[in-house]
Amino acid sequence: MTDSDAPGPVATARPRGHRAYTMLLLAFLIDGVLQIALAGYGTFDLDGRKLDAAGNEAFAAHDMNATLMTVLAVAILVLAVVAREGGRAIGLAALLLVLTVVVQTVLAILGKDTPFFGALHALDGMVVLGVAGFLHVSAVRAQR
Ligand code: HEM
Repeated sequence: MTDSDAPGPVATARPRGHRAYTMLLLAFLIDGVLQIALAGYGTFDLDGRKLDAAGNEAFAAHDMNATLMTVLAVAILVLAVVAREGGRAIGLAALLLVLTVVVQTVLAILGKDTPFFGALHALDGMVVLGVAGFLHVSAVRAQR
């Protein structure tokens, strides 16, 4: 290998960023599955109480984990840009952030008065996992 063939700092930075991006997507997926489980926990823990009833902590873990998912989604978008994952991946990472944070929060609020929006909240959760899964599989394939 000649000096000009040796990978420069930019070439080595990308694989490292790509690995971190791939691992973050996996962490997001695992945390997303946990989020579904926490929703199930909250539902069975309601015990006849209203969602907004004083002292009702049934969904506290779900709400807290939503914050962690927000942090992960922001980090995924930043790494998609830094690791130069391409326009499609960056666009889908931005969509992932919007679906996870904005859409889920709005649907959770609307769902309290109109259960239809609660149903959309649950469905959007599946879409969020689907988008993250697609990005993860694409990232793993690009690594090979
Ligand atoms: C990946 C999947 C999901 C994500 C990212 C997600 C995200 C969120 C977010 C951001 C909030 C608002 C939190 C807040 O106001 O502090 C929320 C609340 C809520 N979510 Fe989810 N959610 C998911 C799946 C589900 C599922 C499957 C259900 C099942 C029905 C569900 C039921 C609820 C309920 C009932 C609330 C309101 C809780 C409260 O008022 O304290 N979520 N979720």
